[in-house]
Amino acid sequence: MIILGIETSCDETAAAVVADGTRILSSVVASQIEVHHRYGGVVPELASRKHIEAMVPVVAEALSASGVDKRDIDAVAVTQGPGLVGALLIGFSFAKAYAFTLGIPWIGVNHLVGHVNSVFLDPDPPPFPFTALLASGGHTSVYHVTSHIEMELMGQTRDDAAGEAFDKVAKVLGLGYPGGGIIGRLAQQGDPKKIRFPRTYLDKSRFDFSFSGIKTAVNRYVQTHPDESPDQIPDIAAGFQEAVVEVLSHKIIRAAMERGCSHIAIVGGVAANTRLREKVRQDAAARGIAVSIPPLNLCGDNAAMIAAAGYHCLKAGEASDGDADVFSRLR
Ligand code: KG4
Ligand code: ZN
Repeated sequence: MIILGIETSCDETAAAVVADGTRILSSVVASQIEVHHRYGGVVPELASRKHIEAMVPVVAEALSASGVDKRDIDAVAVTQGPGLVGALLIGFSFAKAYAFTLGIPWIGVNHLVGHVNSVFLDPDPPPFPFTALLASGGHTSVYHVTSHIEMELMGQTRDDAAGEAFDKVAKVLGLGYPGGGIIGRLAQQGDPKKIRFPRTYLDKSRFDFSFSGIKTAVNRYVQTHPDESPDQIPDIAAGFQEAVVEVLSHKIIRAAMERGCSHIAIVGGVAANTRLREKVRQDAAARGIAVSIPPLNLCGDNAAMIAAAGYHCLKAGEASDGDADVFSRLR
């Protein structure tokens, strides 16, 4: 079954062609970073306008790179939410119209279920059940995953998402948007032990997170050390990153142990973080737990994961109709 996937929930216009929910024939991601960079964050109205401009060329590129004729597409899968409503609507309306004109089924996909399915695009996916950490710019959640489309939420952030904390700290340090990649690179040149930032575990045996305190702690550190040279920034970045990574690693491993899962998956934009990948692999290995993390290009938002999730929804008998609408928040 060949699926055209479409993703426009935030600041990436993405389209992909995926066979049988596992084989990527093409995956195109047009980033809007340059548009939003100067504002230090995503401007929703600009995001929608850019999606309108990019939608048709991105789909055309994905089709041509896949070598698949549009008449051979079996279904369209598109992100339905959560995300920015105006941005979601562009991809959603396009997908609806595209499927209608081709006379094929289409399916609205939960973006978070899409992220979890990104591990199945890897040649070595985890067996069910497994425990998944989804860490992105909008969400930080732990799931007990029992099938491609069924997952129980075990815990989530009560305030900022992990990626949001990276973005806000980067802003405080004057490093630009989005902050995750920049902080990750700078941290490699810093000493993670030099400045100790608080680890907020809330209840160490449960799976909720809070990342607003560490953002405030970094802010306070910067304000109370105004004379420190810019050379300190790598140490601040490394100290901050270590604190976030320690909490994420502790919680996901504890969740897997509580459910007796021998496999963990880490997905979402923050899963691209080198130190997180390394730390979870180390900590999990010490407890005999295997770890699956998608390649870097599938950690951030992409349409291949939406096509993969859509494939499994369709196989389960789900399909969307013309009345379906986008949603901005989890229902
Ligand atoms: O999954 P994603 O592309 O979009 C959402 O669904 O939110 O995640 C984007 C987030 C941003 O907050 C970005 O700063 C963060 O992922 N990110 C990283 C890294 N690369 C991207 N965070 C930490 N380290 C990275 N290397
Ligand atoms: Zn995402």
